[in-house]
Amino acid sequence: MKILVVGGGGREHAIIMKLAESKRVEKLFCAPGNGGISRYAECFDVKATDIDGIVALAKKLAVDMVVVAPDDPLVMGMVDALNAEGFMTFGPDKAAAIIEGSKVFSKDLMKKYGIPTAAYETFTDAEKAVSYIKQQGKYPAVVKADGLALGKGVIIAQNEQEAVDAVRSIMEDKIFGESGSKLVVEEFLTGPEISVLSFTDGNIVVPMISSMDHKRALDGDKGLNTGGMGTIAPNPYYTEVIARECMENIFLPTINAMKAEGRTFKGCLYFGLMATPNGVKVIEYNCRFGDPETQVVLPLLDTDLADIFEAVYKGTLSDIDIKWKNECCSCVVMASGGYPKKYPTGLDISGLDDKGQTEGVFVYHAGTKFADGKFFTSGGRVLGVTATGETLQAALDKSYAAVKKIHFENAHFRTDIGKRALSAK
Ligand code: AMP
Ligand code: GLY
Repeated sequence: MKILVVGGGGREHAIIMKLAESKRVEKLFCAPGNGGISRYAECFDVKATDIDGIVALAKKLAVDMVVVAPDDPLVMGMVDALNAEGFMTFGPDKAAAIIEGSKVFSKDLMKKYGIPTAAYETFTDAEKAVSYIKQQGKYPAVVKADGLALGKGVIIAQNEQEAVDAVRSIMEDKIFGESGSKLVVEEFLTGPEISVLSFTDGNIVVPMISSMDHKRALDGDKGLNTGGMGTIAPNPYYTEVIARECMENIFLPTINAMKAEGRTFKGCLYFGLMATPNGVKVIEYNCRFGDPETQVVLPLLDTDLADIFEAVYKGTLSDIDIKWKNECCSCVVMASGGYPKKYPTGLDISGLDDKGQTEGVFVYHAGTKFADGKFFTSGGRVLGVTATGETLQAALDKSYAAVKKIHFENAHFRTDIGKRALSAK
């Protein structure tokens, strides 16, 4: 098979490395890819949101499958355009991708089908949102922009003033753009967070190994929300009891609800969960593989990923026995100094070989360029330094030993990835 992967971050690098293990895969392409990916797959300078450009590229390369990894092309309908041209695809169509594309949609879906989630109200009017918040008078209050906002459209307001400011900055100043024309105000939940990615062909849902993201920029879960500063798998809070509860109350009801709405979901459905004192609740759905969750989940997969993708597309997922390695995995993100705010790019990266790798780990590239035989920074999250081990501690030791050997000016990483997981129970 010849496969084109759309996207250009650490998640796409992880998908490509897993596909490269498949005996069925003859050639891998990526658009736009990045410096690290270019050492393993041929990259093309076509934006991940350029639907016409990607369709044209898929035709030119005569690929057998296109994997659409990021949220925005999925929500825009890239899969519909590729399917219309007869390509086998991995990823939901536009009608199904709305589960991530609109928080108002996903909250209303959960309410309609009795799927546990934080209590909420939705608003299209800033004044009404403000008076609701004042009347509730409960803090922290959670204010979410309706649409996609690079994972940053959520504001946890600690008091009335912050909540009112959040509403005004989302709806009036449009800090998250048009994604802020509607918003959701919801109850603040507490408890450990669990990410569960799943494969679903619309008929059955197969959860992958659970993981835990570390969303805040700084140690001790301080600082701003980011796309994710590191991950570990499996997540120790995802016990067998909780897994059963999730399958019964959340996973199956969600895929059945989507089917009932005429929005059958095929692809990777990501469940962002919180194990609250009142049971597991859905914090968010994503219509795609998580980043950086994928970087710790796929290395543990022991089944051919191309076979799984094909079965998801064809609706024959129940024919495949999906197996996992009995190991742990950790990914420590090295980010540009200043991320998630302003940061420089084009800095020299040292400590990597000509494949962009270093001994003892796998380095998934998120924001790098490769030029004149060297790697340079080109994004906020730069590298995901990933290791497997018999225990989580062993994996983390390897990740952090490698992080010490890799340098770029003002590199920022958290020193406590996995700490909460290690102290679980
Ligand atoms: P989201 O983009 O919806 O995943 O939200 C980003 C992060 O904000 C989540 O991973 C949680 O840490 C936090 N968060 C979102 N919704 C809530 C909530 N209702 N209660 C507490 N924390 C939340
Ligand atoms: N790591 C969270 C996400 O991919 O949205």
